[in-house]
Amino acid sequence: MSKVSVIGAGNVGATAVYFIAEKSFADVVMVDVVEGLPQSKAVDFRHASPVLGYRGGITGTNDYAEIAGSDVVVLTAGIARKPGMDRMDLLKTNVNVAKSAAQAIKRYAPDAVVVVVTNPLDVIAMVVLRETGFAPEKVVGMAGVLDATRFRAFIAEELGCWPGDVEAMVLGGHGDTMVPLTRYTSVGGFPIGELLDAGTIERLVSRTRTGGAEIVNYLKAGSAYYAPGASAAEMVEAIVKGERRLIAASVYLRGQYGHRDLFLGVPVVLGRGGVEKVLEIELTDVERKALDASAKAVREGIEQLDTFYKPG
Ligand code: NAI
Ligand code: 2OP
Repeated sequence: MSKVSVIGAGNVGATAVYFIAEKSFADVVMVDVVEGLPQSKAVDFRHASPVLGYRGGITGTNDYAEIAGSDVVVLTAGIARKPGMDRMDLLKTNVNVAKSAAQAIKRYAPDAVVVVVTNPLDVIAMVVLRETGFAPEKVVGMAGVLDATRFRAFIAEELGCWPGDVEAMVLGGHGDTMVPLTRYTSVGGFPIGELLDAGTIERLVSRTRTGGAEIVNYLKAGSAYYAPGASAAEMVEAIVKGERRLIAASVYLRGQYGHRDLFLGVPVVLGRGGVEKVLEIELTDVERKALDASAKAVREGIEQLDTFYKPG
């Protein structure tokens, strides 16, 4: 069995564990700083094993040493948004959480691929890269799968069709500047423009950009976790099984799309080694400008980070 550790046994972490356990492709370790929390959830999951037929083991711990030998570590630890908060409002708290988690990952799971979920995603991924010193291919941020699945769900609801038949890709940073690529969005192979008018598509794009905030506004005490947990689990599965999935993910750019030394959502092939390839697709002027604006927002986040954070 492969080994997957999930740091943070809160809403997103526990939900990701649920989806991973359902597919029985790895033993799972949940880590949290709150005493008893990961243990309670792990025991509860194990109670479900006979009914659901889980084949992987699930344990909960407050001791980072138990992530040793992980093939994949998912970082979900940190605070989540409340109404009126931007993802960047989480920065100061979550940098410290990410820093301590990344140092533990480096120490105990030096061969793991790290899937970063904690917000502000693209900036926290940078902290994880700097703190672990891992090869950039081994640190990958989860956002594109979530943003795209929201866009796909909205399109399917509009058309009254099965969501699995909708293909879409959302690039850029995980924030309001994200870039849903409508030109590359299709349903059952038909370009979206053949099925929906421009005004409707724009409305769905806008709802996608604020998809996270829509849930925060309903929930008030936190942010989304079912779709985020499912999206993280899908990435973990692609890595553990070496599936070489073509998805959008936040990865460290070294000149691709004209950007370097920052994490940004772009199309990648995700497999056993982490980011196996970054695909550079043709963008129109409008799409490229939107991606540049999104990169600028991420860059501003990194500048903000660098005012108070030093690696190590
Ligand atoms: P939550 O509050 O339910 O869970 C967070 C957990 O992290 C808590 O149980 C807390 O005790 C734990 N924690 C805090 N410091 C820790 C440390 N040093 N080591 C281990 N565990 C620690 O929050 P939720 O809803 O699970 O969200 C987690 C993060 O994921 C937030 O930053 C949120 O914004 C982000 N998120 C990102 C998404 C994305 O698309 N990238 C989507 C959804 C959430
Ligand atoms: C989301 O998009 C809060 O980033 C999180 O739901």
